[in-house]
Amino acid sequence: MSECFKLGVIGAGGHGKVVADTAERAGWSEVVFFDPRFGPIQQTHAHWQLLGLPEEAHAHDCDGYFVAIGNSQARQQWGEWLLGRGLPLVTLIDPDSSVSQYAMLESGVLVVAGAVINADTHIAKGVIVNTRAAIDHDCRIGAYSHVCPGTALAGSVTVGKHSWLGIGCQVRQGASIGSNVTVGAGATVVSDIQDGLTVVGTPARSQ
Ligand SMILES: CC(C)(COP(=O)(O)OP(=O)(O)OC[C@H]1O[C@@H](n2cnc3c(N)ncnc32)[C@H](O)[C@@H]1OP(=O)(O)O)[C@@H](O)C(=O)NCCC(=O)NCCS
Repeated sequence: MSECFKLGVIGAGGHGKVVADTAERAGWSEVVFFDPRFGPIQQTHAHWQLLGLPEEAHAHDCDGYFVAIGNSQARQQWGEWLLGRGLPLVTLIDPDSSVSQYAMLESGVLVVAGAVINADTHIAKGVIVNTRAAIDHDCRIGAYSHVCPGTALAGSVTVGKHSWLGIGCQVRQGASIGSNVTVGAGATVVSDIQDGLTVVGTPARSQ
């Protein structure tokens, strides 16, 4: 990473704290927030400055920008808003994660501490690879999906766009999970999951 001084983060919630912390650990020297909660009585978010509304982010001359919003539609909307203004949407990788040099990560991706991404895996834009998630070789994770803490994906798993793989779930090698899918906490996916479904349990079944 070069010239990483001031990072502007859209979204001052709990997930934003993880993003700010990850950014600092990755070498950004200053993190500032933009959020609708900005106003005369709220100008900080925990340990960081809250500088303005999201739509004011471009006026603050940051070296990079990131969207820290859990809702995947909003994450996409603000990511596209930044890119549409020619602003640099960065990817943040915690130094205590392990990302293969043969993995491909698009812009706006977050990789939190303890995560592992193995060779020839492709992570599309705006994906969250959360704390201690493990994504093995040759996987494809679609844009704006969220791989929650402690999940384990075996090799060659495919996940569509805007899907949410709940905390601690496990996915068998080669399984194909569609778009807009929710996999419940602790589920074990052993077969393909169609678009739009919510599945829970072991083996994971539609709710
Ligand atoms: C699957 C999930 C989305 C369902 O949420 P919901 O629609 O609000 O469902 P409810 O809590 O109303 O539960 C409905 C039923 O499903 C069961 N259920 C819910 N989640 C379940 C899960 N993960 N595994 C097994 N059963 C589950 C409930 O016990 C309940 O059963 P009942 O009708 O017999 O009482 C949610 O429970 C879940 O697992 N979310 C993942 C959370 C997560 O990973 N957070 C990490 C954030 S970083």
